[in-house]
Amino acid sequence: MSYPDLIDAPWVRCSTPGGRYAARMNPAATQPRKSLLPVVTAFAALGGFLFGYDTGVISGAIGFIADEFDLNSFEQGVVTSSVLAGAFFGAGLSGVTADTYGRRRLLIFAGAIYVVGATAAALSPGVEFLVASRFVLGLGIGITSTVAPLYIAEMAPASRRGGLVATYQLAITIGILVADLVDEALSHPGGWRWAFGLAAIPGAVQFIGMSRMPASPRWLIGQHREADATAVMKKVGASDDEAHTEIAAMQGAVAEERAGSWADLLSPGVKAALGVGVMLALIQQITGINTVIYYAPDIFEDARFGSAQNAIWATVVVSTVNVLATLIAIRYLDRWGRIPLLTAGLSGMIASLFALGGTFVFLDKGEDSGALGILAVFFVCTYIASFAFSLGPIVWVIVSEIFPTKVRGRAISVATMVNWGANFVVGLTFLTLVDEVHTWGTFWLFGLLSVGSLWYIRARVPETKGRTLEEIEASWTSPSS
Ligand code: BGC
Repeated sequence: MSYPDLIDAPWVRCSTPGGRYAARMNPAATQPRKSLLPVVTAFAALGGFLFGYDTGVISGAIGFIADEFDLNSFEQGVVTSSVLAGAFFGAGLSGVTADTYGRRRLLIFAGAIYVVGATAAALSPGVEFLVASRFVLGLGIGITSTVAPLYIAEMAPASRRGGLVATYQLAITIGILVADLVDEALSHPGGWRWAFGLAAIPGAVQFIGMSRMPASPRWLIGQHREADATAVMKKVGASDDEAHTEIAAMQGAVAEERAGSWADLLSPGVKAALGVGVMLALIQQITGINTVIYYAPDIFEDARFGSAQNAIWATVVVSTVNVLATLIAIRYLDRWGRIPLLTAGLSGMIASLFALGGTFVFLDKGEDSGALGILAVFFVCTYIASFAFSLGPIVWVIVSEIFPTKVRGRAISVATMVNWGANFVVGLTFLTLVDEVHTWGTFWLFGLLSVGSLWYIRARVPETKGRTLEEIEASWTSPSS
């Protein structure tokens, strides 16, 4: 055993008085290795907070903005959806740039965009300026939603990757909850300017923090910077042996590929992965999550759940459930696996959606509202809890895991654009759907789409728990996959 081996081995053999060998703890190995991983994850996840905050904050602000700028409903829709449009383009832009300039640089850039967009939105002299600033903010969100999960996944060891990427989703849910509370605290004319402007602070922290974080080792290998990649692996807690084994596997994976291009997305081995990534991104939205996130107060008012104020507090309860249930995913994703949690979560969503629809059938008949209103809040909570430990985090986890390194940025950007596009369409059509097929029909429709989604996931999505990114990459072209 060489000296460095000895340092890393958790046990060493020592002689006992009887001449026999016994294992004893190696004190050098049991000292906790200082890893940069939690810090790296926290800074990358900050982007998730801004994603949640900036998409959530508009619901409480839009009424005041409409009064101040005298907006009709169409103009209100434009102000609301400008962030989603920006996110769609931001996700598209980050594909090539993440592969070329690296994940870390893009996250620094996104931090700067947040500061500019948030400050501009807060100071908007008119509606056009506000729409443009919210679009710019959206660009930052689109970049972050593509690059942050990818950066975390490339930094993390296989055994902890699921939980660490899910931390990004936790940050999204905290952002949504904080936005609800800020909206509530600043619900007076002009308060929206503070609500928008406050987002500049976490943006600045992301900008400064990410400037001090290392580049992702897998991206460095793609740039043929092996020594730098090894140094980063050690900084995030890998032993010498782990760093060398993983770097060799990364080099093997990269050596087999030419420099990635858009056409590569349709090559064998990538096409199948792209199909799964795009479908998961779509499923996350068409099962209705953002109708609850964006319209919960309206849903509760429709359910005649007391006053408008009660409806807002019920929304805060829903957002809190969203945060808490995400913790389940962080804890169990790497133990139980992605597919069992997705199966349990989608089953819960299906049951909740049909029950919620059923509650609205009775409400529409004009039956006693008190108990039915409470039931509606209860089923929205079971629905969001089921989403929060499954589709919420796991879609971002799997999308960050399944693509080959050379095209990972491009492929994730396609899936993320689909996610934002579907988010936009579902948000835009929800109220029209309710007019056409009633609230109950809309929730049952989401229920049916969830049944189809569950079938697809069980049939097509691979389990990625505990496998390295290189093993997952190889599995798409191996005969057993
Ligand atoms: C989704 C968002 C959604 C949020 C709710 C995210 O994973 O991408 O569209 O608003 O979860 O927690």
